[in-house]
Amino acid sequence: MVKRAFFLSVVIVVVTCISCKRAEPITGLVADSAMVVSAHPLASKVGVEILKKGGNAVDAAIATQLALAVVFPAAGNIGGGGFMVLRNADGEIAALDFREKAPGTATTTMYLDSAGNVIENLSTAGHLANGVPGAVAGMVEGHKKYGSLPWKDIVQPAINLALNGFALTEREARGLNALKENLLKYNTITPDFLIREQWNTGDTIYWKDLGHTLERIRDDGRAGFYEGKTADDIVAEMQRGKGLITHEDLKNYEAVWRTPITATYKNYRIISMPPSSSGGICLVQLLKSIEPYPINEWGFNSPKTVHLMVEAERRVYADRSKYLGDPDFFEVPVAQLLSETYNRERMKSFNPEKATPSDSVKPGVITGYESEETTHLSVVDKDGNAVSITTTINGWYGNFVVVAGSGFFLNNEMDDFSSKPGVPNMFGVLGGEANKIEPNKRMLSAMTPTIVEKDGKLFMVVGTPGGSTIITSVFQTILNVVEHGMGMQQAVNAGRVHSQWYPDVIAPEYKAISEKDSLKLVSMGHKFNSRRAIGRVDAILVLPNGKLEGGADPRGDDAADGY
Ligand code: GLY
Repeated sequence: MVKRAFFLSVVIVVVTCISCKRAEPITGLVADSAMVVSAHPLASKVGVEILKKGGNAVDAAIATQLALAVVFPAAGNIGGGGFMVLRNADGEIAALDFREKAPGTATTTMYLDSAGNVIENLSTAGHLANGVPGAVAGMVEGHKKYGSLPWKDIVQPAINLALNGFALTEREARGLNALKENLLKYNTITPDFLIREQWNTGDTIYWKDLGHTLERIRDDGRAGFYEGKTADDIVAEMQRGKGLITHEDLKNYEAVWRTPITATYKNYRIISMPPSSSGGICLVQLLKSIEPYPINEWGFNSPKTVHLMVEAERRVYADRSKYLGDPDFFEVPVAQLLSETYNRERMKSFNPEKATPSDSVKPGVITGYESEETTHLSVVDKDGNAVSITTTINGWYGNFVVVAGSGFFLNNEMDDFSSKPGVPNMFGVLGGEANKIEPNKRMLSAMTPTIVEKDGKLFMVVGTPGGSTIITSVFQTILNVVEHGMGMQQAVNAGRVHSQWYPDVIAPEYKAISEKDSLKLVSMGHKFNSRRAIGRVDAILVLPNGKLEGGADPRGDDAADGY
């Protein structure tokens, strides 16, 4: 029976994947000095132009992020939020939290009906789904502290793309065609410039209103978004669509510098994002949990390796559901969760021969306890400064609402809160008290922008979209390089396998695990639910000769550019 279910899911994936096969480069672009890897070739090009003009990694990352808001509106954004992790050439590290916040009038039960049940779609689509955007505040703050070129020079390339237009890729044309129904359903004023009988590859698209919004941001910085016309347009949009964001919410939004998560794995140092993301903590927990085991001998995606990773993931995602939330509202036991002792203790129940049913795995006891469409970009400049940014409007095209007059999509990040403890969000993850909705609180994220040092030197910049799969994709990409000896592009191409406590299944990409190995895992008690593609990792590896190898994910239009 289990076997039949497994084969069925494999058959479904084979069918859906026939159209997604294409030649994948094994070695990524290698550059002598500097590199940008992002979800879109035009955005990576903008970043490299800024680097060539003498901008540093932060300048280039901000310019790339703003360009993505134009050329990759499904996930790139000014209407969402995200995280930046950076490491300067002198070893200084920093983490910037520009995650969205719940509006000031949000309530814990705002997505429940009178019987206490979650109302479908309310936290995922339309005006009530969006948190107060943080992206512009984050970019302005990052530039204020670490930028080197004038702000206007960094914003201008995105304005040029929006006003002069650019040609759609095949994937984008498909995305816009699929979006039409939701655009018509969820907008109070139809964004006519996005509606066509059919979008085709190579069609030129213009984002005029967005271009003018970016001009206001260029000229007035954060006030160009959180005050004046843009703010008026957002609030008017809320009033028409019964959303909650007010002028006060916008004016009060602040990006926050936080202490990065740091931990060692063998002779590597992991630098990643602290709460309000769960990413850094969960990544370190996973690495600490598997560190004692010889997975380099067991091999890439062998049954033993997959079994170990899945068992660690079960325990870590159980912890995530209980202990992680916005640190400004909930005391996250960071030190305990990161400790080697705690994670080794959690793995004591690991049975190398048998899957542990998730029902029998509970969040760990801590003594003295006092979702998929996102986008990532990685940058290294000629001096060795590195920036890792993951940013999101949560779902593909966020809540489907384009702010009339200002021309950008809003997020549906409220779905990353726990609407009701025990009820999964759109990524299937469970949450509890720590991540309940409260006014002005940041919703828990899985985004994991990460930088890895080897022997004290910059080694890798990595991150990905993918909701709850973000953490396991970053985890596997790091292991592919440091344990399985892969280069950057090869590590990015390699088949991924996700698991997260609940649902109690292994979700491999098509062909990520051989049929024989899958059957072995089934015999150990694992269940399968295969997936088409997991994540879009964009990463940079410093090679032993000091050159940079890019890993741009072939699952999307992602591209490395450099010199
Ligand atoms: N919206 C996906 C995440 O923040 O993890």
